[in-house]
Amino acid sequence: MLGERLFGEVDEKARFMTLWEGRLGPSADEVRAYTVSLPFDRRLAVDDLAGSRAHVRGLGRAGILPEPEVSILIAALERVEVEIRGGSFEFRLEDEDIHTAVERRVTEIAGDVGAKLHTGRSRNDQVATDLRLYTRRELVGAAGRVVGLQEVLQRRAVEAGDAYLPGYTHLQRAQPVLLAHHLLAHGWAFARDVDRLLQSVVRLDVSPLGAGALAGSSLPIDPDWVAEQLHFGARFENSLDAVSDRDFVAEALFDLALLAVHLSRLGEELVLWSSDEFGFVTLADAYATGSSMLPQKKNPDVAELARGKSGRLVGHLAGLLATLKGLPLAYNRDLQEDKEPLFDAVDQVTSGLTAVAGLVETCHFDMDRMRAAADGPEVAAVDLAEWLVERGVPFRQAHAVVGSLVRDSVERGVPLAELVQAHPSLGSEALELLEPGVAVTRRTSPGGAGPVPVAEQMTRFAHRLEIDRERLESAIGAIGKIEPSPGK
Ligand code: ARG
Repeated sequence: MLGERLFGEVDEKARFMTLWEGRLGPSADEVRAYTVSLPFDRRLAVDDLAGSRAHVRGLGRAGILPEPEVSILIAALERVEVEIRGGSFEFRLEDEDIHTAVERRVTEIAGDVGAKLHTGRSRNDQVATDLRLYTRRELVGAAGRVVGLQEVLQRRAVEAGDAYLPGYTHLQRAQPVLLAHHLLAHGWAFARDVDRLLQSVVRLDVSPLGAGALAGSSLPIDPDWVAEQLHFGARFENSLDAVSDRDFVAEALFDLALLAVHLSRLGEELVLWSSDEFGFVTLADAYATGSSMLPQKKNPDVAELARGKSGRLVGHLAGLLATLKGLPLAYNRDLQEDKEPLFDAVDQVTSGLTAVAGLVETCHFDMDRMRAAADGPEVAAVDLAEWLVERGVPFRQAHAVVGSLVRDSVERGVPLAELVQAHPSLGSEALELLEPGVAVTRRTSPGGAGPVPVAEQMTRFAHRLEIDRERLESAIGAIGKIEPSPGK
């Protein structure tokens, strides 16, 4: 390592107290314990190092640091990165946060030059930079995993062919729909998630580095150049805004919460469908759980947790908005509360997407059960009414005619088919509509649930996925490569 060659053995005795020891005496232990963020913000380590390298090079370019000192600091930062990735970096609680930990270690390695690392910057612009780098990478990553789940839904939809099941409103059987149509309905919701995540990435792609504590610097730093080094689309416009803006965290939390809500709704259907009452789906053993007491149980815990965890993510969003709501400009320590909800939301969505994708990929759809449930004559009731409409009967009257036949059938226990056959305006021609499998084929309008529009929808869905994969590729290309920090 260059660091090793330049410095030899690191001076482990280098002392580091607080960053403000010139001004204040040591903090009370309980203050350290209460204010420390290192246990969670250590996951920003690689982003912090990337930000510091760009900053140091900027100082060199501006003539604030001579080239040899730039090299020493860069080498020390690189060595710290190796230590962090290799797991040998010593995180000490007295370091308070990841920025302090890195600066402490750089100073141990680089000696006196380490004291120049923080020239012209503050932890306020530093942490905002780190968090934007992290959020940008994670949102792009989440979008990629959503596309993965969409591909699973797409595969299952193709496989489903012409299988159909009842569509529900108010959880009452309404009209038959193709299983492919039902699966793609979730797929389109996830398409909006991908779009939202990538749009949020575009909005957050602004570098706050150079805003300093709140007002910029008297030194000739160049925030535009530093922004470019970090592959940000732009630099901040206003230093006060730069260090106090956490809109991007709120947006990320919203995107992730809504995505979690979509997972929850899909999960809820799998819970229902896997019950004996529905019997539409059998979960793979690997994606189901058993009971500690009841030997016969096969429980849909993954689907239930997809439902359950969404509440927690909604809470994270509400919590952050409450934290932000009364804050005066500019940085306030309250802002440290942005990280844990964000990290947790990212973790939960990451594992949720993977688990739900596996669940959907491996489940077995019982097409016979679905078909049997959808073949009841009542689900064709609107087709009877529309058959009358095609013969000139105003819809409201047609609705009343069929409605009273259904009522008769229910009350007198006479099969609907018999009543249809006997009805003067319907008769045996209309009877065909009640044949099993016919009603779903009559959903022919664009975007509808029958085989003709669903075939077109499949093409459109595949096209949308293609576009989103390209968008994803270019987002990945644009953000530059920072491998995430190891561990949590
Ligand atoms: N740990 C802090 C945070 O997450 C870093 C910034 C601290 N800045 C300060 N002025 N105390 O917000």
